Amino acid sequence: MASTSNTPTILVIDDDDDLRYSLKRVLSARTCNFIEADSGEAGLQMAEQHGPDVILLDNRMGGMSGIEALQHLRGANPNAMIILMTAYGTTQTTIEAMKFGAFDYIMKPFDPKKILSLIDSALAASSDLVRANQGVKSEGVSAEEIEGGIIGSSSAMQAVFKMIGQVAASDVTVMVTGESGTGKELIARAIFKNSLRAQKPYIAVNCAAIPDNLIESELFGHEKGSFTGATTQRIGKFELCDGGTIFLDEIGDMALATQTKILRALQEGEIQRVGSSETVKVDVRLLAATNKPLEAMVQEKTFREDLYYRLNVVRIQLPPLRERLEDVPLLVDFVLKRLARDSKAATKAISPEAMAVLSKYTWPGNVRELENLIYRSAVMAQGDTILIKDLPQELLSAVGGVDAPAPPVGDNFLNIDDRAQSVESTEVPHAEVPAADAPVSMPFGEPFAEVYKQLREAHGTNILQHAEREIIKRTLEDVGGKQVKAAEILGITRATLRKRIDQYDLGK
Ligand SMILES: Nc1ncnc2c1ncn2[C@@H]1O[C@H](COP(=O)(O)OP(=O)(O)OP(=O)(O)O)[C@@H](O)[C@H]1O
Ligand SMILES: [Mg+2]
Repeated sequence: MASTSNTPTILVIDDDDDLRYSLKRVLSARTCNFIEADSGEAGLQMAEQHGPDVILLDNRMGGMSGIEALQHLRGANPNAMIILMTAYGTTQTTIEAMKFGAFDYIMKPFDPKKILSLIDSALAASSDLVRANQGVKSEGVSAEEIEGGIIGSSSAMQAVFKMIGQVAASDVTVMVTGESGTGKELIARAIFKNSLRAQKPYIAVNCAAIPDNLIESELFGHEKGSFTGATTQRIGKFELCDGGTIFLDEIGDMALATQTKILRALQEGEIQRVGSSETVKVDVRLLAATNKPLEAMVQEKTFREDLYYRLNVVRIQLPPLRERLEDVPLLVDFVLKRLARDSKAATKAISPEAMAVLSKYTWPGNVRELENLIYRSAVMAQGDTILIKDLPQELLSAVGGVDAPAPPVGDNFLNIDDRAQSVESTEVPHAEVPAADAPVSMPFGEPFAEVYKQLREAHGTNILQHAEREIIKRTLEDVGGKQVKAAEILGITRATLRKRIDQYDLGK
């Protein structure tokens, strides 16, 4: 049921009163009916009653989550364009949002211009009836089954996650390219995990690791006696993987003869075991990856052009890490946490100075190099923090020395809902901050100057968050944990307070 008048209806579903209010103000720049709901449940009802054209949906709410609401809304309001607002820049949410048919997603906090232009394109799309059947189907995979572990809040990686969500549910062949260590294998697996074949087999074959004379038998199997050494019949990977997904890794290293056979398997949906004249029907989805320049190889005739086009239906090109250095702090954080989990030890930290160095390095080995470096440095670190001295000398020389620290992950007072959001730039904010001993002019006088000085000394950067945490903590203690009262004293809504309590881990 879409709204009937020409004035579009926009529904905002968010439990944060302040955010709904700001969106209302932003949207006053457009002629539209603005309606709002403060929970997923209330939002579903509103959507049913009013048939909005565009829905702005918060992902993180008490009660029903945005992703859950999204799935209901897609069913009940197939023509509404839904924009998911995510506070955490996680892979999962982005992939899920696109998979469950969101029009787009936006990370909080957002710039009013950006959300307006997104709403405008959603409105344009909603008047476009072609869209009716475009929503990606959502059968098959539940939220829990979606594998996390791919980090990246840079726009390049967000675009990758969006593509995964879009291609996963179809059987389209996907080619993943990128330099060594950029995460091609990880992406292939994520496509599989989010696909309708997620419960079926997934077989990864590293074409570079199998000798040319054996690869055919490996992929398609062989009959007993078909060649020297073939003492028994063997079933190949394609047959074993019937109904599932095959990932042909390093496909640029595959011999021309094998390429021909792969093409046939793809085109005809059938294979022949080596030494057999019988054909066997197989139904496999193919994913492929390479770090070789396939286009140049096609020119040189070392890679079949027809196979190239057959594989390259959808191309996901992974950016090298040096082009998305803003992801470095997030990756470091992620690797440190995983290391702690695997070694059952406490999570090590990294000093802002050391992080600044890592954020300047060019990472020729990409994420793999970063992982190895963090493992190694964590071992070298004597205390609980990785310091500059724990980083390898080669790396320090490569970045040309050490300077002021980069802000830690999540640094930005206004971004406090965005713990996983990366820092905006690798520029060092220190120059703009007064030195700890500079005079502070504040209405509270001396005691405040002292508090400020202590904060600067203790934390260096990010002091607003430390101060905010402390103020909220004390206020809660003061009122015996009564959230309504605390919110009133602090001058924020209860929803905002709850988010802060969560964020600063102040809940009991
Ligand atoms: N975005 C990411 N988030 C978290 N970990 C990542 C990411 N990208 C890569 N990694 C990790 O980096 C390592 C290398 O990734 P992967 O093996 O997928 O790279 P690749 O592109 O296949 O490299 P190669 O071409 O050398 O085979 C893996 O341990 C993987 O888990
Ligand atoms: Mg690989």
